[in-house]
Amino acid sequence: MQRGNKIDIQDLNLYYGNMQALKGISMSFPANAITALIGPSGCGKSTFLRCLNRMNDVIPGVRITGRVLLDGKDIYAPDSDVIELRKRVGMVFQRPAAFPLSIYENVACAARVHGVRDRATLDELVEKSLMGVGLWDEVRDKLHKSALGLSLGQQQQLCIARVVATGPEVILLDEPCSALDPASTLRIEDLIRRLEERYTIIIVTHNMQQAARASDYTAFMLNGELIEYGRTGDVFTSPRDPRTESYVTGRLG
Ligand SMILES: Nc1ncnc2c1ncn2[C@@H]1O[C@H](COP(=O)(O)OP(=O)(O)O)[C@@H](O)[C@H]1O
Ligand SMILES: [Mg+2]
Repeated sequence: MQRGNKIDIQDLNLYYGNMQALKGISMSFPANAITALIGPSGCGKSTFLRCLNRMNDVIPGVRITGRVLLDGKDIYAPDSDVIELRKRVGMVFQRPAAFPLSIYENVACAARVHGVRDRATLDELVEKSLMGVGLWDEVRDKLHKSALGLSLGQQQQLCIARVVATGPEVILLDEPCSALDPASTLRIEDLIRRLEERYTIIIVTHNMQQAARASDYTAFMLNGELIEYGRTGDVFTSPRDPRTESYVTGRLG
């Protein structure tokens, strides 16, 4: 279900002080597709992901040049609304960051931040979001119990529900399964597949099998550069660049 490009990146450079972490990256993320970002540790995957909802803005000494267009509008333009941007482009982190609150509140608090106050609306949103991530049946009877009592896999589903509750268009996931066991990992991958229909998904992973299984497109990064980008099947089976081949066959990083 392709509908053109959701995000266009034009010559993106990022510097942490004097250190250039992203080097002239240009690429587009197709709408309603899953794109995996792969590459060895330290190559700039998380940095790149954080550029897409301006999470690097809060890091002192960061300088960014180039353009990041969301639906054709530069998110770094002076009139860009960062709060609105982070609502449209939600993020899920590596370790499930469930809050020490009830399951209900973990989802509801995100919606409250974005202005939803009415109890019935919140109830409905919590149910819908938990259903959306396939967690509803497991938690419907313990909504007001602590989220920290859930398994790590369930907590990561909950974190995704929390993002879903804010009504995003793009969901960024930074190694969302790295703290999970294989069964929970597969569950999250299934979930991401189901979300693809409604959202544009960008997932960082250092797990090659996961990238090969769970994405439509794959971008391979090395030392802050984009080395290769294409359909996942092509990147894995007939890479154009020898460095991509070394990496995907496990000889690098
Ligand atoms: N907040 C920061 N300040 C300074 N350097 C950073 C910061 N975050 C990351 N880096 C550096 O930027 C490079 C890319 O890091 P990162 O984006 O975390 O890579 P990856 O996610 O691919 O492991 C690394 O050299 C890392 O040390
Ligand atoms: Mg990282």
